Amino acid sequence: MLQTLRRSRISGVGKFLPPRIVKNQDLEKLMNTSDEWIKQRTGIEERRWIEPGMTNAAMGHEAAVQALKDAQKTPEDIDAIIYATLSPDHFFPGCGVMIQKSLCPGKTVPALDIKNQCSGFLYALSVADAWIKSGIYNCVLIVGGEIHSTGLDQSPEGRDIGVLFGDGAGAVIVEPTDKTGDGILVTKLHSEGEHLEKLWCHGPSSSDFPRLIKGSQVIGESYFPSMDGRFVFKNAVTRMCEVMVESCQSIGVKVKDIDFVVAHQANLRINSMVLEQLEVPAHKTLNTLQKYGNTTAATLPIGLQEAKEGGLLKPGQLVAMVAFGSGFTWGATLIRWS
Ligand code: ACO
Repeated sequence: MLQTLRRSRISGVGKFLPPRIVKNQDLEKLMNTSDEWIKQRTGIEERRWIEPGMTNAAMGHEAAVQALKDAQKTPEDIDAIIYATLSPDHFFPGCGVMIQKSLCPGKTVPALDIKNQCSGFLYALSVADAWIKSGIYNCVLIVGGEIHSTGLDQSPEGRDIGVLFGDGAGAVIVEPTDKTGDGILVTKLHSEGEHLEKLWCHGPSSSDFPRLIKGSQVIGESYFPSMDGRFVFKNAVTRMCEVMVESCQSIGVKVKDIDFVVAHQANLRINSMVLEQLEVPAHKTLNTLQKYGNTTAATLPIGLQEAKEGGLLKPGQLVAMVAFGSGFTWGATLIRWS
């Protein structure tokens, strides 16, 4: 006889933003841009950039400590770690083992890194959900963390992308729930590698021969992210709408049944178009982009933390998360919040 799989829930949330605030006006001094252009085209007013000495894993650690406290857990309780980032501190190994070392030294829990850019957090959540559902683990820590500032072209030529991204980390704790109907109801994920060069960073690349020349300082076009902004914009709107509808249909609910949407933070115009097309009223969401810019894998856990802290997430609500990013990869998840 088939046994009903148990469900998982997000029991704790946390975030860490580096204290250094970089306003649009600060970027006007580096690039040929303006506060007015950035605000009007993206909605971003300021972002956080790290100071030398800060690491991605150190930000992730701070976010994880807060998430553990929120879930009333200790590092001793963690069974597994998943770290979503496109900007790891090292080429290898990933940030997951760095968190294992700093949070639970001596406890050899598994640590997995996920490189799925803006949808990395949703990919991580689906892995944690599967682990919990199948009974393999009982307490999974997910971190989404990024340091973009050290990899952006901050010269006048870098304005296309340099103004968009910020640094930061968010974390959640995922645990089983016994309450019928609660927790993660569905996650739908997709990819379309055909468009990988529409938003990517070529190097450092193992396919370059040699990858790096010893002793040389490599600063080249291929080491900065590049993007076809308009193409990404259109695909982001289309795919995020599609996957929200797909997720709802798969569990027999309607988009209008959703109580709150935490959407990836790339551009306020993208998010308002998605909500408008789905007929979700603006009061059912929150945006953090104005303060933090696009922190890729960190935007969703940061958004969740701010929504929870602000009292916007209530038990019993149907909460959606949706993201689209480089790859292209995209996805959505629906959670009965508890
Ligand atoms: N400041 C001033 N002018 C700028 C800047 C800047 N920072 N960047 C570009 N411009 C100029 C361009 O050179 C162009 O000038 P031109 O008309 O003389 O050629 C003009 O502004 C318009 O440029 P577009 O790229 O056509 O502007 P658009 O309205 O498409 O906005 C933007 C650009 C904000 C990047 C938009 O396309 C976008 O948000 N796309 C989505 C991409 C994204 O958010 N990616 C992040 C990662 S993916 C994700 O998270 C979903």
